[in-house]
Amino acid sequence: MVTQPRIFIAKDGRRVVLRSIRWEDLDDAIEFINSMADEGAEILRTERVTRNEEAEWLGRRLARIEKGDIIDAIAEVDGKVVANSEVEKRTGMMSHLGYIGLAIRTGYRGIGIGAAIMKALIEESRMAGLKMLFLDHFETNKIARGLYEKVGFRETGRLPKAIHRSGTYTDLVRMVLEL
Ligand SMILES: CC(C)(COP(=O)(O)OP(=O)(O)OC[C@H]1O[C@@H](n2cnc3c(N)ncnc32)[C@H](O)[C@@H]1OP(=O)(O)O)[C@@H](O)C(=O)NCCC(=O)NCCS
Repeated sequence: MVTQPRIFIAKDGRRVVLRSIRWEDLDDAIEFINSMADEGAEILRTERVTRNEEAEWLGRRLARIEKGDIIDAIAEVDGKVVANSEVEKRTGMMSHLGYIGLAIRTGYRGIGIGAAIMKALIEESRMAGLKMLFLDHFETNKIARGLYEKVGFRETGRLPKAIHRSGTYTDLVRMVLEL
């Protein structure tokens, strides 16, 4: 989890709190992930969820955060969860690696929240002793690409046509950052 909450003012003047997710965020988490599914966001987890499914997911997530397997950060604006992110630590011979996931709710993009979260996750990953972060993005996701390059990630390869949706194939691009 982020070691302590961080507060900053977004480019549009809104106050943003970055902190770790809590059990009380369940309703917001459901609304958040379902809004991503409805939008057809370019992320891998895209099915709508029921309350039970999300409660199970959040329970597992809280346990993994507690164990230190996941470094997470959510963004809260006006008391509402508007972004979710994580670094999932790998295990065994890959335990120096962390895999990043990040999504921001529509209406809260382009105001610096993604950049602030990425910087926080990078800093926390270094503090946790990780040596490298990696992630995947849809080749078509130019906004994500711009963000990841801006914070220092570089492309190392791609899985051609890994994504198939609405009759179209899209490459999945892998990027890494050595810490
Ligand atoms: C991709 C995403 C995480 C970016 O986060 P964000 O908060 O919108 O990005 P920020 O406002 O912090 O902008 C950071 C950088 O991203 C790029 N960026 C942001 N908005 C952009 C736009 N409309 N067009 C082009 N580049 C853009 C720029 O490089 C920007 O840096 P700059 O402000 O110095 O120009 C966010 O848009 C999102 O969650 N989208 C939907 C889900 C998703 O695609 N997740 C990523 C999966 S890999």
